[in-house]
Amino acid sequence: MSALIVKQAYIPSMLEDLINNQYKMIDLVEAQGITDNEEILNNTEIMITNGEAKVGKDLIDKYNNLKLIADFGVGYDGIDVNYAVKKGIKVTHTPGVLTDDVADLGVGLLIALSREIPKADKFVKYGKWQELGMGSFPWTHKVSGSRVGIVGMGRIGRAIAKRLSAFDVTIGYCNQSKVDNENYLYFSSLVDLASFSDFLVVCVPGIKENFHLINKNVLKALGASGALINISRGSVVDEEYLTGALINKEIRGAALDVFEHEPYVSDKLRNLDNVILTPHMASATWETRKAMAQLVFDNVTAFIQGKELITPVPECFKVK
Ligand code: 8YV
Repeated sequence: MSALIVKQAYIPSMLEDLINNQYKMIDLVEAQGITDNEEILNNTEIMITNGEAKVGKDLIDKYNNLKLIADFGVGYDGIDVNYAVKKGIKVTHTPGVLTDDVADLGVGLLIALSREIPKADKFVKYGKWQELGMGSFPWTHKVSGSRVGIVGMGRIGRAIAKRLSAFDVTIGYCNQSKVDNENYLYFSSLVDLASFSDFLVVCVPGIKENFHLINKNVLKALGASGALINISRGSVVDEEYLTGALINKEIRGAALDVFEHEPYVSDKLRNLDNVILTPHMASATWETRKAMAQLVFDNVTAFIQGKELITPVPECFKVK
């Protein structure tokens, strides 16, 4: 009999179909990823989860024969990888295949925020333009030639920098180490990067070392003409402080695809008109979700066939 698999959190149906066509998967999503069924707890070898779900020590310890945690996502901050690795459990994720989409959305949000595209769209659709006449929509702010600060120059940060270079922006960045591109300005201090930036784009993983990395000091340094874009994890930004800073116009605006308590977003944040909010959708295109599903399936299959895993989470996983 082949390995028993549990689906611990949401995955798209195309991945379910791939797995169910070949293996046996128990769906625990309705039970919030938890079961007391002894047979499942004793026999499950593979757990499939996603980039946001929590797979902590307690959950890992419930399973007596767990050997692989396969994450449908690049982020694995919800998984206690340290603990899993200590117990000899392997972890895989889906890097690379979603980089383009996340970078595309990051750049899209930056432009949409600066040029106020969502507001302009409503202005026309709700008849305001014809009511108020030509030239009635307020002017917006230029993107080309601006200064963009990238927090975290991993795969996604670099893809955003590459795209924005075509807009003749000056790129500054903070990262654990310098990257090999002399056109990008390296900052060792995040506050200095924020002071330099018209747009600050957050691309670091949501590991605990990055909790509330974007805090009061950083937002104050970004200042009244600066804007924040976050396509990484909600936990990286002090959302309560950010909301106050947006209300008080301490910063000009924010475009957020991720939130601290998603899918909950506070009324205060939702009611602001200097924000663009999207529902954690950066990798959610048909093309990319298909590639992510295939990569999870391929990792599971490699594991079952005793082959080398395709995209294991690196053991030195503290990437910044
Ligand atoms: C989610 C993500 O995993 O890759 C990540 O880290 O945040 C997303 O791609 C995806 O939404 C599945 O829940």
